[in-house]
Amino acid sequence: MYRILVTDPLEESALKIFEEAPDVYFETRYGLSEDELIEKIKSFNAVLIRSATQISAKIIQSAENLKVIGRAGSGLDNVDVAAAEKKGIKVLNTPGTNAPAVAEMTIAYLFALARSLPRADHSMKKGLWEKKSFSGIELNERILGIIGCGTIGKSVARKARALGMHILVYNRSRVEMDDLTFDQVPLEELLKRSDFVSIHLALSENTRSLIGKKELALMKKEAYLINSSRGEIVDEGALLARLEEGLLAGAALDVFTNEPDYNKKLAAHEKVIATPHIGAATRESQQRVGVRIADLTLEFLRSKYIFL
Ligand code: MLT
Repeated sequence: MYRILVTDPLEESALKIFEEAPDVYFETRYGLSEDELIEKIKSFNAVLIRSATQISAKIIQSAENLKVIGRAGSGLDNVDVAAAEKKGIKVLNTPGTNAPAVAEMTIAYLFALARSLPRADHSMKKGLWEKKSFSGIELNERILGIIGCGTIGKSVARKARALGMHILVYNRSRVEMDDLTFDQVPLEELLKRSDFVSIHLALSENTRSLIGKKELALMKKEAYLINSSRGEIVDEGALLARLEEGLLAGAALDVFTNEPDYNKKLAAHEKVIATPHIGAATRESQQRVGVRIADLTLEFLRSKYIFL
């Protein structure tokens, strides 16, 4: 039997794959501490996680029978991949499967920022009618700067272009989108020219704190920043300072440097729209991601190992 431990909630159809597999024993154990996981993981061949479980080097060392770590999602920043590879443990993830959900969320953020929708709703709920306070801007003809142009960035570019926006892209390698008019430019130029800047990068040593004080200072006073990738890519202190000084029109943040213990002062700022890392949290996306990682994990185990 393949022993599979699931430590973050996976969509029902993903768990059903394990339920129906005659060669699988699986357990769901959510919210384990590092010490608890160190003990628990010892007898398992696979561990399946989303973003909440941290798979540290210490956990990997104690995982005597572990063959595969399956990350339901794209970011691998909660897995010590180097430690896993050193121990011969395969790390699987599902890049691209979240793209439709995250791209749609980014478009929602564009509208929400441009028209102050959360603040207008909040004001109505307080019984007010502040029509004059909520005059917004149009997205049509505005410049959207996309930092990181993989599957999600490209999807955002296509949707935004259909809304009449002009697209600038910053990406380390050359971006091909034959169906779209866009300009690939250096980061500094993108920051200076864009009305909206949206980040779609994976977290790595190259991207950590990529958008700091110096970069934020290049942005127009009337511009907005959107981050639905990883909190650590933006210097939160520098962003808050910029907003407090009135040198940025606003920000929409789905991700924070510390999650779930996020920067409350930043999230509470009146020019910030904040959400709790829900970019990929659609029914469709969770289904796709869960089923994909369950299939990949089983496929890998069955092709490489036979456990009786
Ligand atoms: C991902 O890395 O796939 C997304 O950030 C979604 C998540 O982890 O919740």
